[in-house]
Amino acid sequence: CGIVGYVGDKQAEAVVIEGLRRLEYRGYDSAGIALVDGGTVATEKRAGKLANLEKAIADRPLPSSTIGIGHTRWATHGAPNDVNAHPHTGGQGRVALVHNGIIENFAELRTELQAAGATMQSETDTEIAAQLLEIDVLAGHDLTDAMLRLVARLEGAFTLVAVDADDPDRVVAARRNSPLVVGIGEGENFLGSDVAAFIEHTREAMELGQDQVVTITRAGVSVVDFDGTPVDCRRYHVDWDLSAAEKDGHDWFMRKEIFEQPRAVADSLLGRRTPEGHLHLDEMRLSDQELRDVDKVIIIACGTSFYAGMVAKYAIEHWTRVPVEVELASEFRYRDPILDYSTLVVAISQSGETADTLQAIRHARTQRSKVLAICNTNGSTIPRESDAVIYTHAGPEIGVASTKGFLTQLVACYLLALYLAQVKGTRYGDEIDEVMHQLEAMPDHIQRVLDDAASIYDMAEAHVDTRSVLFLGRHAGYPVALEGALKLKELAYIHAEGFAAGELKHGPIALVESGLPVLCVVPPAGRDQLRDKMVSGIQEVRARGARTICLVEDGDDHITPYADEIVRLPRVPVLLQPLVAVVPLQLFACQLATLMGHDVDQPRNLAKSVTVE
Ligand code: G6P
Repeated sequence: CGIVGYVGDKQAEAVVIEGLRRLEYRGYDSAGIALVDGGTVATEKRAGKLANLEKAIADRPLPSSTIGIGHTRWATHGAPNDVNAHPHTGGQGRVALVHNGIIENFAELRTELQAAGATMQSETDTEIAAQLLEIDVLAGHDLTDAMLRLVARLEGAFTLVAVDADDPDRVVAARRNSPLVVGIGEGENFLGSDVAAFIEHTREAMELGQDQVVTITRAGVSVVDFDGTPVDCRRYHVDWDLSAAEKDGHDWFMRKEIFEQPRAVADSLLGRRTPEGHLHLDEMRLSDQELRDVDKVIIIACGTSFYAGMVAKYAIEHWTRVPVEVELASEFRYRDPILDYSTLVVAISQSGETADTLQAIRHARTQRSKVLAICNTNGSTIPRESDAVIYTHAGPEIGVASTKGFLTQLVACYLLALYLAQVKGTRYGDEIDEVMHQLEAMPDHIQRVLDDAASIYDMAEAHVDTRSVLFLGRHAGYPVALEGALKLKELAYIHAEGFAAGELKHGPIALVESGLPVLCVVPPAGRDQLRDKMVSGIQEVRARGARTICLVEDGDDHITPYADEIVRLPRVPVLLQPLVAVVPLQLFACQLATLMGHDVDQPRNLAKSVTVE
């Protein structure tokens, strides 16, 4: 979900709605706003996207106000309808509150409130919090005190933001687990789930820690922990600007982000080598000795980030000979994994806020393992709770389906693998140097694939009526196949499956029927055995009527007799091939979804950062 809070001298409606627009990628099942005006709180909320809320406000204007809160929701408790949308108010309409997360003991709190005679308007856990907060405000506590009393009663993960009708200079928020940052202005202050909410107004931000309550007024910001003890929070300057969060002439953020990939990859490689030619990772807060002691790596991640982890396994094992496991974060802690102080846990997360991944790293740390985060979001929770971090430099990723986030994660994974090899001495400097040169050439290779986007768009046009697509890959091409299939599911809502090509004959080949498109990521030359096995797989599906679309490197003509269509890829080493091979698959999914009339940036039922388990 996305949360915005504002107090200052501007019209709060405009500030809050604009903030919600920039956060809409975090959830878009419903949206709402509450403004304080002369002793009352005016609220408006609507199911569906922000545009529905804006239309409702146009039909029934809200009062002018300079203090307000807003919310865009990804539904957990209660269906995404108007009533369940946030903000929620207390029974007397004195306070309004928005919430991100889940209040786990809400059923017992509701029973208690009902026993005391309260009636509920909605099915949400949020309304319970609003009612409890209001009881304390009506009893004479100021909003900050009432918030502290409220959080003492709640279990679960939550960020709450509230206003009081009788206090037109105070917005109060509480944070446990789900993200919240403060934007610091002149005579005005802001709250947001991330800095995109207020980047238009200020680039000075402050990060909140876990279990803290923040009060913003026109004059300042104060933070206390859940016991009421004042705390100092780190301020930082946001180094990206508004234009990074605009579409730059593209129809979708996602398409813009696909085309930004050469720059994003180049930025993620910048400054990683010392003048002596050694690899250097700035936030690697683990000592060389700690890394030399690592005898096992476990990678945890979700969604697209998980596929980056699969590629990392190939790279780390190849360059360092250290065994690597890759695991879905949501499964990790529930299977009692074997780890100790010599296990390095690598958490990959674009947003740095995914709850499944966060819980997994917390579990790893209780087992004394060191945790290294690969993350794109400075100041987010996962890097803060990790022992070390490699930041990717993709810039803000707005499209819900990850693209430049994925490519820069791959770069970070290669860097980590090479760094481990350097520290452990499993590879010589020359070899590391050579791979770094190959990596530094990747932005140009990626650009070449992008220059050929028109042919991928034609291919998409030919597939608008397709209902099912298979993706095959081997070695590092296998995660690419999985990612290609995920993109089609996420964006075009069509059935798509990725398989390891060698596994095809053990079952999935039964799915092949006449005309079925099968996208094949062909390993590059130099890995001829692998490539030849892939060719056999392609022949097998073609013999059963499949239409084969082959991603093949330049100059490789072995495949031509078995390919109905060929997409050319630049010649690169097999381990680095995902950086170029995934790009046509991103373009294909983006274009197909566009032609099918879907909302590419905000696919149905999804959210950019899923802050609930
Ligand atoms: C959500 C998004 C996916 C993303 C996954 C992991 O499900 O829709 O696109 O890959 O979360 O996100 P993270 O921010 O942890 O990389």
